[in-house]
Amino acid sequence: VNLVTGKAPSATQGDDMAMVRARRAFLSRRYYQPLAAALAEVASAAEPHVIADFGCGEGYYLGELMGGPQLSGVAAYGTDISKPAIAAAAKAYPAAQFAVADTNRLIPLAGAVVDVGICVFAPRNPAEFARVIAPGGRLLVAIPAQAHLADLRERFGLLGIERDKATKITAQLGGFTLASTRNVSHTARLDGAALRDLIAMTPNARHMDAGTSAQLADVRVTNAEFEFEILEFIRYTKGNEIS
Ligand SMILES: C[S@@+](CC[C@H](N)C(=O)[O-])C[C@H]1O[C@@H](n2cnc3c(N)ncnc32)[C@H](O)[C@@H]1O
Repeated sequence: VNLVTGKAPSATQGDDMAMVRARRAFLSRRYYQPLAAALAEVASAAEPHVIADFGCGEGYYLGELMGGPQLSGVAAYGTDISKPAIAAAAKAYPAAQFAVADTNRLIPLAGAVVDVGICVFAPRNPAEFARVIAPGGRLLVAIPAQAHLADLRERFGLLGIERDKATKITAQLGGFTLASTRNVSHTARLDGAALRDLIAMTPNARHMDAGTSAQLADVRVTNAEFEFEILEFIRYTKGNEIS
């Protein structure tokens, strides 16, 4: 369902069909499986009944969480502002509920119903996260760390990674306490198609000049370095921090 009401969001918000296809193609080759596994481990420690993915894209992480042994049977919800992303997610993961929704405006869930919320490389709305995540519940925010794609960023002039992102996010998330941080890093050998999908699924796709595109088209195989950080936050209970 599409629950974005009022003025249509600008065309640059949310992934378009080409980005969704590239993301599905890249993720289905399991290059980011170590991140999904780490998210599943942190999430399952909270023994959730309800999980939600804010900015879920085509549903890969929710699918991985629900598909694993620890979290099978949990109620799962995914929201994203991109219509093609939600259509792809709903088709691939019929056991979960998906809605087109703008995180910056309203997450279409009742208050305090989510035990574990995840937000993977997607926009955050601290007030909405604090409203829908139950007291004592978790919010797992995944962000790229400094070494993420460092070599490829230099080679192809890709967009940079914001410094001190974890500190900024922690400061923004009123109502939550940072409980743990986990670094996930690995390297992989990508063929040309995987490299092009990796770049096409990010905003780099919108900033690429013809020269770089031609250079990319010639790549047959390359190494890639992946580094992520998972920030685990706990929702305060009634104004008191949980120790
Ligand atoms: C980098 S992608 C990450 C997608 C997914 N979490 C993943 O890692 O595969 C960012 C996602 O945020 C979504 N997005 C952008 N602005 C949004 C908003 N205001 N509300 C909800 N989703 C948004 C995009 O459509 C896109 O699917």
